Amino acid sequence: MAAALALGAQGVWCGSVWLTTDEAETHPAVKDKFLTATSADTIRSRSLTGKPARMLKSAWTEEWAREDTPEPLPMPLQPILTAAAQRRITRSAHQAGSGAEKLANYFVGQIVGNMNQRKSANAVVFEMIEEFIEAVNALQGQLDY
Ligand SMILES: Cc1cc2nc3c(=O)[nH]c(=O)nc-3n(C[C@H](O)[C@H](O)[C@H](O)COP(=O)(O)O)c2cc1C
Repeated sequence: MAAALALGAQGVWCGSVWLTTDEAETHPAVKDKFLTATSADTIRSRSLTGKPARMLKSAWTEEWAREDTPEPLPMPLQPILTAAAQRRITRSAHQAGSGAEKLANYFVGQIVGNMNQRKSANAVVFEMIEEFIEAVNALQGQLDY
């Protein structure tokens, strides 16, 4: 945030970091996976929307990435093709041991590797403000000699 504002941005757009907050409506099975994932556990895949998007690796993305699997269709055909399967995966992934939780995934950036704790959206905002103040103070300190 400090780096972006230093470069002239007027704000910072963030998305992934909210997906593991208490308030997020993220599927519980996916939320659990996000909390243990590293930044290497994401992949750019066309398997959900037909356009490249970064998401958590899962059995779904692995199957679509296989050499003997057809290429995903272009948007909007891929979501039309997979909507019914995705609805069944989402429903079944609520039952532990169904196997569907292995297929479940969602869009998320590489910041997922830092999303390791359940917390409120409120706590995320306050941590961002605190880190921003720390970063700006540290930079200011470099001028104080
Ligand atoms: C669940 C989710 C859905 C998103 N959907 C879109 C989208 O439809 N179109 C788009 O341009 N960006 C989309 N984004 C990207 C965000 O707008 C934002 O640019 C990005 O998430 C910021 O990076 P961060 O996730 O590391 O904070 C999405 C991000 C997430 C996490």
